[in-house]
Amino acid sequence: MDAHQLQQSFGIDSALRFETHPSGLVQGIVQTESCDARFFLLGGHVSHWQPTSTPWPVLFLSEQSSFAEGKPIRGGIPLCFPWFSAHPTDPSQPAHGLVRQVPWTLLESQVADGTVRIVMEQFADEFLLRCKIGFGTILEVELDITNRALRTRDCEVALHTYFDIGAIEKVAIEGLEEIPYLDQLTRTVCPAEHGPIRFTRETDRIYQGVAERILLHDVERNRSISIDAGNSHSTIVWNPWIEKSKRMQDFGDEEFQRMCCIETASVRDHSMSIAPNETTAIRVRYAVCP
Ligand code: BG6
Repeated sequence: MDAHQLQQSFGIDSALRFETHPSGLVQGIVQTESCDARFFLLGGHVSHWQPTSTPWPVLFLSEQSSFAEGKPIRGGIPLCFPWFSAHPTDPSQPAHGLVRQVPWTLLESQVADGTVRIVMEQFADEFLLRCKIGFGTILEVELDITNRALRTRDCEVALHTYFDIGAIEKVAIEGLEEIPYLDQLTRTVCPAEHGPIRFTRETDRIYQGVAERILLHDVERNRSISIDAGNSHSTIVWNPWIEKSKRMQDFGDEEFQRMCCIETASVRDHSMSIAPNETTAIRVRYAVCP
């Protein structure tokens, strides 16, 4: 459907409208008393969310991002499924799975109590995915995964969220202190650090444990963002730092200073195992705390 057709079927007064982005992709635009937000059907992708209580976006979006079918959007919330990072056996497959670079189908839109809710759908490798998003003073994302195969299947999933921050050296992540992590750069398992995470170099870590709440403290902006995950068994923390930023085609050389990823996930030893016709969901809620 083009923007006009989506507007006819799913537009909600001033709260949700559809436009054609300069790239030609269709974009949904949410404007309510609670928040401003944007999403693309490409990748089922939330690209912007800013509650009215804060002067800055919560989600980082690269100025160098591609906006084209077949390529992921750099920033916002890419959905990674059914594998995380490189394919386990086939290097010709795309990184982070099959769904972040293809258009999803919008199924529903509604508004209630100041929150705009949408549902988008995608099929991938015998799985049916439904992404349910609530745009309000809180941003809620739920990805429902149904196994449509005749046998139990394993899959990895990550809500690969990019946060917009004031200055990378001045953020701290609280909540993962007591969890050991796999350092993806050295391929070693490192013991728990017993302190908040701070960034001083390229960081690419898989924490295999659950934190009921993670807080991203942004001293420069005098705000914190809370991350409450549900049915997630891994958390990935990533910042590309200087050299990797230069190697990334769709990312500015200096942009690493204004972003970090904290990903709600279930990967590697904590991947999901889903029986035929069973549905499981991974959820996250983001809120801005003063
Ligand atoms: C992170 C991975 O989740 O995503 C990193 O841990 C990876 O290893 C990063 O570099 C970005 O991946 P991509 O495919 O979007 O460039």
